[in-house]
Amino acid sequence: MKNIFVYIGSRNEESRLFRYVHQIINHARAHCSAIGNIDIYSPLNSNLLPSTGCKNCFEKGFCPSEEAANDDGEQIKARIEQADIVILASPVYSHNVSSDMKLLIDRLSYWAHLFKLTGKAGIVVTTAESNGASFVSAYLEKTMSFMGASIEHTVNFVNSEQDLADMYAEEAAAKLIEICDDSYRAKPTNQQEVTFQTMKMILLDYPHDHFEYRYWRDHGLFDCQSYEELLNRHVKV
Ligand SMILES: Cc1cc2nc3c(=O)[nH]c(=O)nc-3n(C[C@H](O)[C@H](O)[C@H](O)COP(=O)(O)O)c2cc1C
Repeated sequence: MKNIFVYIGSRNEESRLFRYVHQIINHARAHCSAIGNIDIYSPLNSNLLPSTGCKNCFEKGFCPSEEAANDDGEQIKARIEQADIVILASPVYSHNVSSDMKLLIDRLSYWAHLFKLTGKAGIVVTTAESNGASFVSAYLEKTMSFMGASIEHTVNFVNSEQDLADMYAEEAAAKLIEICDDSYRAKPTNQQEVTFQTMKMILLDYPHDHFEYRYWRDHGLFDCQSYEELLNRHVKV
């Protein structure tokens, strides 16, 4: 069974973004018995405090904001770690992701140094009135890819292509079903290989008590000769 984590970066439950994400998921659920748990988070059912810039996450591996009663960062991170598929869905606001989506990305930034999403498939969903979706989807793809995910599908719902929306949703659902099959294997990109080698070289020179050094050592990243090797270690048996 494959678990899915979704973050919808919109505060508008009536939004097309909510509608299309649910359309994709419901369609996939109806046609695939391999889908396990689906966690859908948004700023309407969770709260994330903005980054304070302290860099504690990079240096010590935890976020002091997560001790606050009104912060769900720890829970959200745990759900993402349990997921096999991560869907990031954002409306296009001024050619960028929504501030809520950016907040999530800021809070997860340090995962880009840890390849935390290795072995997970990433899907990107955006909604826009007419323009700017390519910037937003490229940014979300890049962000997840640097964290280690394999980007398997991107869908931009632009209002001017309203008549194609059902077809786009069905295509996304079909891709989701494909990823849920046991035969699915994530593949590394050239960029991930280069980033892995660069990070490895830099981190090997870090003080041995630094969080990132310890993480790479304890999770076997230093032992891998390539990102592909790390990816293969994540294959579920
Ligand atoms: C603050 C704000 C900024 C926006 N900026 C853009 C933009 O740059 N390009 C665009 O095509 N649409 C823009 N829109 C329109 C939304 O992207 C559009 O309504 C989209 O469908 C998201 O709607 P949804 O909330 O129904 O999913 C903007 C909307 C808001 C509220």
